[in-house]
Amino acid sequence: MVRSLDFVTVTESAALAASRWMGRGERDAADGSAVEQMREALGQMEISGRIVIGEGERDEAPMLFIGEELGAGGRAVDIAVDPVEGTNLVANGLPNSIAVMAIAERGGLLHAPDSYMQKLAVGPKAAPYVHIDAPVRENLEAVANALEKPINDVCVVILDRPRHADLIAAVRSAGARIKLISDGDVDACIATTIESTGVHVAMGIGGAPEGVLAAAAIKCLGGNFMGRLKPRNAEEAARAQAMGFGDLDRVLMIDDLVKSNEVVFCATGITDGDLLRGVRFFGNHARTHSIIVQATGTVRFVESTHRLTARPRAVR
Ligand code: FBP
Repeated sequence: MVRSLDFVTVTESAALAASRWMGRGERDAADGSAVEQMREALGQMEISGRIVIGEGERDEAPMLFIGEELGAGGRAVDIAVDPVEGTNLVANGLPNSIAVMAIAERGGLLHAPDSYMQKLAVGPKAAPYVHIDAPVRENLEAVANALEKPINDVCVVILDRPRHADLIAAVRSAGARIKLISDGDVDACIATTIESTGVHVAMGIGGAPEGVLAAAAIKCLGGNFMGRLKPRNAEEAARAQAMGFGDLDRVLMIDDLVKSNEVVFCATGITDGDLLRGVRFFGNHARTHSIIVQATGTVRFVESTHRLTARPRAVR
């Protein structure tokens, strides 16, 4: 029978494959090789898996497309994947890229459209005191109180995008610090729940599928995640409606995003980050660093050393 811990081999395979492309400026190649390895690893697991968040629809993604069935047979599960979360980060050799996956019982994960989502993520201590619709200053004061810190010690992670100009101004005017990131808000959201990262809040608009992945981890870790779909155009809005979203403006609470109480989340670092170390190669071995969290609240950080059986394929 498949154990939760076994799932980490899937993100490890993806991270190992993607890391070969680190700093080579080729985001599609990094993503393609991670997808291939993740698919192979999932295919060997004793599950009857169905991809609910993946690389896109069947016609645009050759592998890990939404609806694809995977696994060697066993318990019926839904799977959300992002084989490379932060493809630009890998291509440019920048920190915080991870390979990510969440698994839940069938129907346990929201089928988020490939659109944007407004997000708010905090760790367990601040979880009950924030709301996505509260003013920025109010939320940051609530976090500062919950963490028993002055507000100027609160660190907020925001994607560095022009759309966040007002948000950035509001956070600065409240007196908190901002860590601007170029990509990778799944890592940032999860980092809010792990005290040693020094990251306390993640705010702003990013990918909706990434929102569900982050919510899966945060649900296990006891933090809070709230979202709201933000379609970029009428086509995306119509698509979300067709998927049965109804009121697109409604706040998506963590239990709307992750309905199941039996969820497993795992991620492996590709490049070094706040949460995880990246893949290291030495001799004919590679070392990976991963996190696995379960609904029981158990968090495991796993360091694995892999013997590279074949000489790694040269990337040209
Ligand atoms: P990819 O790995 O798919 O490129 O996503 C990276 C990412 O930064 C996500 O972490 C984030 O949610 C999203 O892109 C933001 O989208 P955009 O770059 O369009 O602002």
